[in-house]
Amino acid sequence: MNIRPAAVVVAAALTFTALGARAAEPLVGDAKAGATKAAACGACHGITGVSEVNPEWPNLAGQGHWYIAEQLMYFKSQVRANAVMGAQAVALEPQDMADVAAYFELQTPKGLEADPALVDLGKRLYRAGDAKRGLPACFTCHGPDGRGNGPAKWPAVRAQHDTYVYNQLKNYAARTKYSKVDGQPSAPERAEMMYTVAGKLTDDEMKAVASYIQGLR
Ligand code: HEC
Ligand code: HEC
Repeated sequence: MNIRPAAVVVAAALTFTALGARAAEPLVGDAKAGATKAAACGACHGITGVSEVNPEWPNLAGQGHWYIAEQLMYFKSQVRANAVMGAQAVALEPQDMADVAAYFELQTPKGLEADPALVDLGKRLYRAGDAKRGLPACFTCHGPDGRGNGPAKWPAVRAQHDTYVYNQLKNYAARTKYSKVDGQPSAPERAEMMYTVAGKLTDDEMKAVASYIQGLR
Protein backbone atom coordinates (compact mmCIF):
# COMPACT_ATOMS: atom_id res chain seq x y z
CA MET A 1 0.00 0.00 0.00
CA ASN A 2 2.83 2.34 0.76
CA ILE A 3 4.75 1.60 -2.41
CA ARG A 4 2.43 3.47 -4.71
CA PRO A 5 2.62 6.97 -3.17
CA ALA A 6 6.39 6.65 -2.75
CA ALA A 7 6.81 5.76 -6.41
CA VAL A 8 4.74 8.77 -7.37
CA VAL A 9 6.97 11.02 -5.30
CA VAL A 10 10.12 9.63 -6.93
CA ALA A 11 8.64 10.04 -10.40
CA ALA A 12 7.70 13.63 -9.63
CA ALA A 13 11.20 14.37 -8.39
CA LEU A 14 12.74 12.93 -11.54
CA THR A 15 10.44 14.97 -13.75
CA PHE A 16 11.38 18.06 -11.84
CA THR A 17 15.09 17.34 -12.28
CA ALA A 18 14.66 16.64 -15.99
CA LEU A 19 12.84 19.92 -16.52
CA GLY A 20 15.38 21.74 -14.38
CA ALA A 21 18.24 20.25 -16.38
CA ARG A 22 16.71 21.72 -19.52
CA ALA A 23 17.05 25.13 -17.96
CA ALA A 24 20.70 24.24 -17.13
CA GLU A 25 20.20 25.43 -13.57
CA PRO A 26 20.07 23.03 -10.66
CA LEU A 27 22.96 20.70 -11.48
CA VAL A 28 25.98 21.45 -9.36
CA GLY A 29 29.21 21.12 -11.31
CA ASP A 30 32.25 19.35 -9.96
CA ALA A 31 35.34 21.24 -11.13
CA LYS A 32 37.65 18.28 -10.46
CA ALA A 33 35.59 15.94 -12.63
CA GLY A 34 35.33 18.81 -15.11
CA ALA A 35 39.13 19.09 -15.40
CA THR A 36 39.27 15.53 -16.72
CA LYS A 37 36.31 15.97 -19.04
CA ALA A 38 37.73 19.25 -20.38
CA ALA A 39 40.61 17.40 -22.03
CA ALA A 40 38.31 17.06 -25.05
CA CYS A 41 38.04 20.85 -25.30
CA GLY A 42 41.72 21.72 -24.99
CA ALA A 43 42.65 21.39 -28.66
CA CYS A 44 40.55 24.43 -29.48
CA HIS A 45 39.83 26.32 -26.25
CA GLY A 46 43.15 25.57 -24.54
CA ILE A 47 43.41 23.14 -21.67
CA THR A 48 42.95 26.00 -19.17
CA GLY A 49 40.33 27.71 -21.31
CA VAL A 50 42.81 30.13 -22.86
CA SER A 51 42.41 29.77 -26.62
CA GLU A 52 45.62 30.53 -28.49
CA VAL A 53 45.33 28.85 -31.87
CA ASN A 54 42.43 30.52 -33.64
CA PRO A 55 40.74 33.82 -32.61
CA GLU A 56 37.37 32.45 -33.74
CA TRP A 57 37.57 29.97 -30.84
CA PRO A 58 36.59 31.79 -27.65
CA ASN A 59 38.41 31.75 -24.35
CA LEU A 60 36.36 29.97 -21.69
CA ALA A 61 38.59 30.78 -18.71
CA GLY A 62 36.74 32.85 -16.12
CA GLN A 63 33.39 32.71 -17.89
CA GLY A 64 30.37 32.17 -15.62
CA HIS A 65 29.62 28.46 -15.18
CA TRP A 66 25.91 29.13 -15.75
CA TYR A 67 26.66 30.66 -19.17
CA ILE A 68 29.02 27.89 -20.29
CA ALA A 69 26.56 25.15 -19.29
CA GLU A 70 23.66 26.94 -20.92
CA GLN A 71 25.50 27.57 -24.18
CA LEU A 72 26.51 23.90 -24.34
CA MET A 73 22.85 22.96 -24.06
CA TYR A 74 22.00 25.36 -26.90
CA PHE A 75 24.78 23.95 -29.09
CA LYS A 76 23.60 20.40 -28.43
CA SER A 77 20.01 21.23 -29.37
CA GLN A 78 21.14 23.30 -32.41
CA VAL A 79 19.33 26.33 -30.99
CA ARG A 80 22.76 27.94 -31.27
CA ALA A 81 23.70 26.39 -34.57
CA ASN A 82 27.42 25.81 -35.02
CA ALA A 83 28.68 22.69 -36.77
CA VAL A 84 31.96 22.51 -34.85
CA MET A 85 30.50 22.99 -31.37
CA GLY A 86 27.36 21.01 -32.12
CA ALA A 87 29.54 17.97 -32.76
CA GLN A 88 31.33 18.52 -29.44
CA ALA A 89 28.25 19.18 -27.32
CA VAL A 90 26.28 16.22 -28.61
CA ALA A 91 28.48 13.88 -26.55
CA LEU A 92 27.85 15.79 -23.30
CA GLU A 93 25.16 15.01 -20.74
CA PRO A 94 23.88 17.82 -18.47
CA GLN A 95 26.18 16.72 -15.63
CA ASP A 96 29.21 16.83 -17.98
CA MET A 97 28.20 20.35 -19.01
CA ALA A 98 27.96 21.44 -15.37
CA ASP A 99 31.33 19.87 -14.56
CA VAL A 100 33.34 21.39 -17.41
CA ALA A 101 31.61 24.72 -16.75
CA ALA A 102 32.65 24.65 -13.09
CA TYR A 103 36.22 23.87 -14.15
CA PHE A 104 36.55 26.61 -16.77
CA GLU A 105 34.99 29.27 -14.51
CA LEU A 106 37.86 28.79 -12.05
CA GLN A 107 40.57 29.36 -14.69
CA THR A 108 42.23 32.72 -15.20
CA PRO A 109 41.70 34.38 -18.57
CA LYS A 110 44.66 35.67 -20.51
CA GLY A 111 44.22 37.63 -23.66
CA LEU A 112 45.73 39.88 -26.26
CA GLU A 113 45.78 43.66 -26.09
CA ALA A 114 43.54 46.21 -27.77
CA ASP A 115 44.61 47.67 -31.12
CA PRO A 116 45.93 51.19 -30.30
CA ALA A 117 44.25 52.53 -33.45
CA LEU A 118 40.80 51.40 -32.26
CA VAL A 119 41.00 51.62 -28.50
CA ASP A 120 39.72 55.20 -28.07
CA LEU A 121 36.47 54.63 -29.94
CA GLY A 122 36.07 51.20 -28.33
CA LYS A 123 36.58 52.57 -24.85
CA ARG A 124 34.10 55.39 -25.40
CA LEU A 125 31.41 52.98 -26.59
CA TYR A 126 32.10 50.48 -23.82
CA ARG A 127 32.16 52.99 -21.01
CA ALA A 128 29.72 55.68 -22.17
CA GLY A 129 27.57 54.29 -24.97
CA ASP A 130 25.85 56.97 -27.03
CA ALA A 131 22.79 58.53 -25.42
CA LYS A 132 21.78 60.28 -28.67
CA ARG A 133 21.13 56.89 -30.27
CA GLY A 134 19.85 55.21 -27.14
CA LEU A 135 22.95 53.01 -27.05
CA PRO A 136 23.62 51.90 -23.47
CA ALA A 137 27.19 51.62 -22.21
CA CYS A 138 28.37 48.01 -22.32
CA PHE A 139 29.80 48.33 -18.84
CA THR A 140 26.40 48.82 -17.23
CA CYS A 141 25.81 45.10 -17.79
CA HIS A 142 29.22 43.52 -18.45
CA GLY A 143 30.99 45.51 -15.71
CA PRO A 144 33.90 47.98 -15.87
CA ASP A 145 36.43 45.17 -16.35
CA GLY A 146 34.17 42.93 -18.42
CA ARG A 147 33.70 40.38 -15.66
CA GLY A 148 29.94 40.17 -16.15
CA ASN A 149 27.38 39.63 -13.43
CA GLY A 150 26.41 36.07 -12.52
CA PRO A 151 23.22 36.77 -10.53
CA ALA A 152 21.92 39.04 -13.29
CA LYS A 153 22.98 36.49 -15.96
CA TRP A 154 25.21 38.87 -17.88
CA PRO A 155 28.23 36.95 -19.21
CA ALA A 156 31.87 37.96 -18.85
CA VAL A 157 33.52 39.43 -21.94
CA ARG A 158 36.98 40.39 -20.67
CA ALA A 159 40.08 39.22 -22.56
CA GLN A 160 37.89 37.67 -25.23
CA HIS A 161 39.32 37.47 -28.78
CA ASP A 162 38.30 40.48 -30.85
CA THR A 163 37.46 38.23 -33.81
CA TYR A 164 35.12 36.10 -31.72
CA VAL A 165 33.44 39.15 -30.15
CA TYR A 166 33.00 40.79 -33.54
CA ASN A 167 31.41 37.59 -34.91
CA GLN A 168 28.99 37.44 -31.98
CA LEU A 169 28.04 41.12 -32.37
CA LYS A 170 27.30 40.46 -36.06
CA ASN A 171 25.13 37.48 -35.09
CA TYR A 172 23.24 39.46 -32.47
CA ALA A 173 22.71 42.40 -34.84
CA ALA A 174 21.34 40.03 -37.50
CA ARG A 175 19.26 38.25 -34.81
CA THR A 176 20.75 34.95 -35.94
CA LYS A 177 22.64 33.96 -32.79
CA TYR A 178 19.87 31.51 -31.83
CA SER A 179 17.26 29.84 -33.95
CA LYS A 180 14.04 28.20 -33.03
CA VAL A 181 14.13 24.42 -32.97
CA ASP A 182 10.82 22.67 -32.29
CA GLY A 183 10.65 20.78 -29.06
CA GLN A 184 13.88 22.28 -27.70
CA PRO A 185 14.31 24.95 -25.06
CA SER A 186 14.47 28.21 -26.93
CA ALA A 187 17.01 30.99 -26.61
CA PRO A 188 17.11 33.10 -23.46
CA GLU A 189 14.85 36.13 -23.58
CA ARG A 190 17.74 38.23 -22.42
CA ALA A 191 19.42 37.74 -25.83
CA GLU A 192 16.90 40.38 -26.89
CA MET A 193 19.05 42.91 -24.97
CA MET A 194 22.02 42.11 -27.17
CA TYR A 195 19.96 42.00 -30.37
CA THR A 196 18.93 45.60 -29.61
CA VAL A 197 22.38 46.82 -28.51
CA ALA A 198 24.31 45.23 -31.40
CA GLY A 199 21.69 46.42 -33.87
CA LYS A 200 22.70 50.01 -33.06
CA LEU A 201 26.42 49.50 -33.78
CA THR A 202 28.08 50.18 -37.11
CA ASP A 203 30.61 47.68 -38.44
CA ASP A 204 33.53 49.94 -37.44
CA GLU A 205 32.09 50.35 -33.95
CA MET A 206 31.78 46.58 -33.54
CA LYS A 207 35.46 46.20 -34.45
CA ALA A 208 36.50 48.98 -32.06
CA VAL A 209 34.54 47.75 -29.07
CA ALA A 210 35.65 44.15 -29.74
CA SER A 211 39.26 45.32 -29.70
CA TYR A 212 38.75 47.21 -26.43
CA ILE A 213 37.14 44.13 -24.82
CA GLN A 214 40.12 42.00 -25.86
CA GLY A 215 42.34 44.23 -23.71
CA LEU A 216 40.10 44.10 -20.61
CA ARG A 217 41.12 41.99 -17.61
C1 HEC B 1 37.28 21.67 -32.82
C2 HEC B 1 37.33 22.88 -32.00
C3 HEC B 1 36.49 22.90 -30.72
C4 HEC B 1 36.47 21.96 -29.71
C5 HEC B 1 37.23 20.66 -29.60
C6 HEC B 1 35.56 22.51 -28.70
N1 HEC B 1 35.08 23.72 -29.10
FE1 HEC B 1 33.84 24.95 -28.02
N2 HEC B 1 33.83 26.31 -29.55
C7 HEC B 1 34.46 26.15 -30.75
C8 HEC B 1 34.09 27.23 -31.65
C9 HEC B 1 34.56 27.42 -33.07
C10 HEC B 1 33.20 28.06 -30.91
C11 HEC B 1 32.51 29.33 -31.39
C12 HEC B 1 31.17 29.00 -31.98
C13 HEC B 1 30.45 30.21 -32.50
O1 HEC B 1 31.10 31.07 -33.11
O2 HEC B 1 29.24 30.31 -32.28
C14 HEC B 1 33.06 27.45 -29.60
C15 HEC B 1 32.27 27.99 -28.59
C16 HEC B 1 32.12 27.41 -27.34
C17 HEC B 1 31.36 27.99 -26.26
C18 HEC B 1 30.60 29.31 -26.27
C19 HEC B 1 31.41 30.34 -25.53
C20 HEC B 1 30.74 31.68 -25.44
O3 HEC B 1 31.40 32.60 -24.90
O4 HEC B 1 29.60 31.85 -25.87
C21 HEC B 1 31.44 27.12 -25.22
C22 HEC B 1 30.80 27.28 -23.85
C23 HEC B 1 32.28 26.01 -25.63
N3 HEC B 1 32.68 26.22 -26.92
C24 HEC B 1 32.60 24.95 -24.82
C25 HEC B 1 33.34 23.82 -25.25
C26 HEC B 1 33.59 22.67 -24.41
C27 HEC B 1 33.14 22.51 -22.97
C28 HEC B 1 34.32 21.78 -25.17
C29 HEC B 1 34.79 20.39 -24.80
C30 HEC B 1 33.78 19.46 -24.35
C31 HEC B 1 34.52 22.41 -26.48
N4 HEC B 1 33.91 23.64 -26.48
C32 HEC B 1 35.25 21.86 -27.50
C33 HEC B 1 35.36 25.14 -31.07
C34 HEC B 1 35.60 23.99 -30.34
C1 HEC C 1 21.35 45.65 -20.89
C2 HEC C 1 22.48 44.77 -20.61
C3 HEC C 1 23.56 44.66 -21.67
C4 HEC C 1 24.24 45.69 -22.30
C5 HEC C 1 24.07 47.18 -22.13
C6 HEC C 1 25.20 45.04 -23.16
N1 HEC C 1 25.11 43.67 -23.05
FE1 HEC C 1 26.25 42.29 -24.01
N2 HEC C 1 25.16 40.79 -23.21
C7 HEC C 1 24.10 40.95 -22.36
C8 HEC C 1 23.46 39.68 -22.14
C9 HEC C 1 22.25 39.43 -21.28
C10 HEC C 1 24.19 38.72 -22.88
C11 HEC C 1 23.90 37.22 -23.03
C12 HEC C 1 22.95 37.02 -24.17
C13 HEC C 1 22.84 35.59 -24.57
O1 HEC C 1 22.48 34.77 -23.71
O2 HEC C 1 23.14 35.28 -25.73
C14 HEC C 1 25.26 39.46 -23.54
C15 HEC C 1 26.20 38.87 -24.36
C16 HEC C 1 27.24 39.55 -24.96
C17 HEC C 1 28.30 38.94 -25.73
C18 HEC C 1 28.48 37.44 -25.98
C19 HEC C 1 29.47 36.87 -25.01
C20 HEC C 1 29.86 35.48 -25.31
O3 HEC C 1 30.91 35.04 -24.81
O4 HEC C 1 29.13 34.77 -26.03
C21 HEC C 1 29.12 39.95 -26.16
C22 HEC C 1 30.37 39.81 -27.00
C23 HEC C 1 28.56 41.19 -25.69
N3 HEC C 1 27.42 40.92 -24.95
C24 HEC C 1 29.10 42.45 -25.93
C25 HEC C 1 28.49 43.65 -25.59
C26 HEC C 1 28.95 44.95 -26.02
C27 HEC C 1 30.15 45.20 -26.90
C28 HEC C 1 28.08 45.87 -25.49
C29 HEC C 1 28.08 47.38 -25.65
C30 HEC C 1 28.08 47.88 -27.03
C31 HEC C 1 27.11 45.14 -24.70
N4 HEC C 1 27.38 43.80 -24.80
C32 HEC C 1 26.09 45.73 -23.98
C33 HEC C 1 23.68 42.14 -21.77
C34 HEC C 1 24.11 43.40 -22.16
